[in-house]
Amino acid sequence: MLQSVVQDEKPRKVERDLRRVDAHPDHWYPIAWSRELKPGKMLARKYAGEPVVLVRTVAGGVFALEDRCAHRQVPLSHGVVKGCTVRCGYHGWAYDEAGKCVDVPYLGGRLPNGVKAYPVHELDGVIFLFPGNAALAEGRRPHALGARGDRRYKTRELNREVAAHYTFMHENLFDMNHQFLHRRQMGMIKASCLGRESGEDWAEVRYTFDRTSGSATIGEGAILGMMRGVDESARNDQMIIRTDYPYQTLTFAMDDGDPVLSVWLGYTPLDMEQRSNRTFGYLSVKRPKIPLLLDAVWPFITMFTESIFKEDKEVVEMEQAAHDAQGGDWNNEVFPPIKDLRELLLRCGVIRP
Ligand code: FES
Ligand SMILES: [Fe+2]
Repeated sequence: MLQSVVQDEKPRKVERDLRRVDAHPDHWYPIAWSRELKPGKMLARKYAGEPVVLVRTVAGGVFALEDRCAHRQVPLSHGVVKGCTVRCGYHGWAYDEAGKCVDVPYLGGRLPNGVKAYPVHELDGVIFLFPGNAALAEGRRPHALGARGDRRYKTRELNREVAAHYTFMHENLFDMNHQFLHRRQMGMIKASCLGRESGEDWAEVRYTFDRTSGSATIGEGAILGMMRGVDESARNDQMIIRTDYPYQTLTFAMDDGDPVLSVWLGYTPLDMEQRSNRTFGYLSVKRPKIPLLLDAVWPFITMFTESIFKEDKEVVEMEQAAHDAQGGDWNNEVFPPIKDLRELLLRCGVIRP
């Protein structure tokens, strides 16, 4: 007779689904690289499904409007930039940087209503958009993107579209227990958590690392070589990963000096359900005493970090796919720092009704 086995197949139902918590709009989100928007040109972007057009005037200033003409709703990004205005490509209605309609070429008299304008802020090569309550924008500007503005560091962009909710990105970076995923790039590394702290809108975790087997690839060796410098015995290394809502930073320091590695990341939701994001980031490595050394190993550092981020992108996309297939967050988290982080993301985001 067949024995029937009763299995607890259904995981606990999680009441609050973190993947249905929207990024809070009352913050600045990276929307484009400055280099992507040339003078006199426009760029069509999306923030959480909202179409936005970024406009750079010939004089170099940037403004952002909703990407639809108030007349017949076609995207303004198909129009042209004229002086300090954007002119729709269909009947030529013109809008200024505040979204006000300032000209209808074939009509005199009272002008129609315009379109929504968003606060924008350009910092360290990134254009930021403030999608929420504009009255809060000024006081919430980011002031530095990791070590990007520090000339003692060499910096590269991290730039990719990821088909995953922004919360997966925060959790992935925060949880260094996933070094197993990167075993082909790094060999076997064991992360030890040194402590954690959190506040109303931030959470932080600290780690140190030991190699348990395998050896460093050229790229990892290049970064570690830069970090350790001449003193191979320096072992008080500490990695600090911090979510300062809505951004994330990672610093890695040897002993008590400046970080030798500094990463800044921002995740901008793309679609209305926020199941995809564009990740903007900077990875900065402190220049060693012999400056050309870092330039020489830079291609290896680039290859190494790209491989790591590729693996992270693949795995968070698998997490999103599992969430979509299961229709909810079946996540079974066990690591206290990630539990802190999940609470923080719930607290700071907007729960979708
Ligand atoms: S649709 Fe834009 S001017 Fe008519
Ligand atoms: Fe990773």
